Amino acid sequence: MKISRVFVCMCLLISQIGYGSGSITLGLGAAGATGLAAAIYAGLERIKCVAYECCYPNTEWTRPNMTALSQNLKIKLYGQHLVKKVVHRALRGHLSTSEPKKALVMSFHGWTGGGKNYVARFVAESLYKLGMRSNYVHQFVSPLHFPHHHLTDIYKLHLQDWIRNNVTKCERSLFIFDEIDKMPVGMIDAIKPFIDYHESIDGVDFRKSIFLFLSNTGGANITRRMLELWKEGKNREDIELSDLEDLILKGAFNEKDSDLVNSGLHHSELIHHSLVDHYIPFLPLERHHIELCAEDELARRNLRPQKDVIKKVADEMVYFPAETKLFSKTGCKRVAQKVSFLIAHDEDYDRLFD
Ligand SMILES: *[C@@H]1O[C@H](CO)[C@@H](O)[C@H](O)[C@H]1NC(C)=O
Ligand SMILES: *[C@@H]1O[C@H](CO)[C@@H](O)[C@H](O)[C@H]1NC(C)=O
Ligand SMILES: *[C@@H]1O[C@H](CO)[C@@H](O)[C@H](O)[C@H]1NC(C)=O
Repeated sequence: MKISRVFVCMCLLISQIGYGSGSITLGLGAAGATGLAAAIYAGLERIKCVAYECCYPNTEWTRPNMTALSQNLKIKLYGQHLVKKVVHRALRGHLSTSEPKKALVMSFHGWTGGGKNYVARFVAESLYKLGMRSNYVHQFVSPLHFPHHHLTDIYKLHLQDWIRNNVTKCERSLFIFDEIDKMPVGMIDAIKPFIDYHESIDGVDFRKSIFLFLSNTGGANITRRMLELWKEGKNREDIELSDLEDLILKGAFNEKDSDLVNSGLHHSELIHHSLVDHYIPFLPLERHHIELCAEDELARRNLRPQKDVIKKVADEMVYFPAETKLFSKTGCKRVAQKVSFLIAHDEDYDRLFD
């Protein structure tokens, strides 16, 4: 009597969590025993999702939030009108179908401190409740994870294992390759099978996964073109993707021998096969963008926008080229540190002399 009640409860529980309209009847026959066990297992797995991150579609952990993405891009990213447009559209397009043709691959290019890591974080936060802390976000920083050129072949094998195993666990995984320009030459080709137009490889479907490549490649050429356009009197906001796209494509090939970068995309199969879906240029930031970043940093610490602090931060940055001093050499990088330094300094000062 008691047992059967537990049994019924169990079935109700399972059917409630959406898994087993069939399992009640199944439970009656002997052959249904394994079906029931499977249903219970699936049910328990689902219950686990209440407390622990999991990858079932349409749980709060992995439900994409495009509003969050557009808000973050709009409010927290400065001076990158092209990035805002393309990233949002590309991601929405990829998520809109349950059967994408291939994995989404976006390559972020441009000068340091323009916000590439920032945008990668926003993408992670829009895909997973835990953002960058999610088990389904995998970040590789080339100098850290792949420092030795002579180990390229071993890195390749490891990387392929990681990608395969992680996508097996969750189809919609996010892979971020930071400083991909410093990756040993040829290594990136290890990723090719996973982002190509295959329905599945050994039963694993990679088409829902998302790859972000971050690099400085093309940054110098983007800046040069920006200066030309500026001299022609063109507004920053009027610059279009078509003004820069050719540069990035060529830059990815050509900068191998420049002393600035050693592009990991150089002669890469990815480019020959056009497996990168979007090349996204990050423009060099100007003084007023630095001021906005400083203001943002103050707001993040619940401080009012102190004009003197903002001005000091902007003054301390290095600008180039020498003649026009138009662009910040390090973008908004280190703005946070400068702000905290100035604030700490003020507080000590007040304490000593008040
Ligand atoms: C999506 O993000 C927005 C902005 O961060 C937030 O207000 C909203 O509650 C989120 N929606 C869901 C379903 O989590
Ligand atoms: C998943 O990727 C991470 C790197 O982010 C790696 O350390 C881990 O071993 C991978 N998981 C598997 C099962 O290969
Ligand atoms: C990009 O810059 C490199 C040097 O940094 C130069 O050799 C190359 O010609 C430039 N490419 C374009 C398309 O301007």
